[in-house]
Amino acid sequence: MGTVRTAVLPVAGLGTRFLPVTKAVPKEMLPLGDRPCIEYVVAEAVSAGIERIVFVSSRGKDALVDYFDRSPALEAHLEANNKGELLAEVRRIARMAEVVTVRQGEALGLGHAVLTAAPAVGDEPFAVLLGDDVVDSAVPAIGQLIAARAETGAEAVVALMEVPHEHTRRYGVCAGAWESPSRMRVRAMVEKPEPEVAPSDFAIVGRYVLPSRIFSILRSTPRGRGGEVQLTDAIAVLAAEGVVLGQVFDGQRFDTGDVLGLLRASLHFSRKRPELREGVDAILAEFQAGTLGR
Ligand code: UTP
Repeated sequence: MGTVRTAVLPVAGLGTRFLPVTKAVPKEMLPLGDRPCIEYVVAEAVSAGIERIVFVSSRGKDALVDYFDRSPALEAHLEANNKGELLAEVRRIARMAEVVTVRQGEALGLGHAVLTAAPAVGDEPFAVLLGDDVVDSAVPAIGQLIAARAETGAEAVVALMEVPHEHTRRYGVCAGAWESPSRMRVRAMVEKPEPEVAPSDFAIVGRYVLPSRIFSILRSTPRGRGGEVQLTDAIAVLAAEGVVLGQVFDGQRFDTGDVLGLLRASLHFSRKRPELREGVDAILAEFQAGTLGR
């Protein structure tokens, strides 16, 4: 079936829900504590065995690519000042994976962004991870999808999450037949259905394993909602063939694409750090007592 070695991380969106900060800072670089969201997503891919990260980047996103690059001047400074731990950390981040960058000149949608990565991916299956979705799980979420593909022979796997019935209008929702309690053979995908017409309460979140033939499907996918090429429209073509599996993954997913979501995720991931937990709890206690900021 071919191993999944490459992950595409589209980061070329305009991030309008985070304006004005995204005028100058890529939203993927906004931090959960002292680490940008994108580091968590790259770490997930790497711990699932991914060797190459293809960033689909755009104008103004250089900070993101720099973050995973070496920084000789900074390293020399840390070395000269005996900051060994920080130096090791800075070097570790630069060595996490082989990083390739392609540019999406115009933000024409997620499907178009994935298609832009075609020359860098080549003729092999690949993973897609969206930087807005940060997952806390014992087994990396994308690794759970890669395992499902190997176990079932499905050509494509999408991550599924059960959502409250009244929230279906916020997501792409899957229709299909359950093959096991956590695996659905996906037949169709409905974008943002009202609860009354939603075919299930299982929504797609930003993790996918796709075959390289998705590129030729994307080339002939017409622009859909918002004049953008939608990745879901191309996956729907595969779903109609019966080769798409929906895997309900184990883990907590945080949507860091808007202000409150980032705040929640920041509290969660900071609290997981032993050296920060007590401080975070103290802030929350102050908040509850109404003494914050005094
Ligand atoms: P979003 O729908 O979250 O769009 O894209 P966005 O521009 O990032 O943010 P908002 O909605 O305007 O606030 C989902 C993912 O697809 C990428 C984004 O970077 C994000 O990771 N994307 C989207 C692209 O790379 N290119 C595009 O043309 C559109």
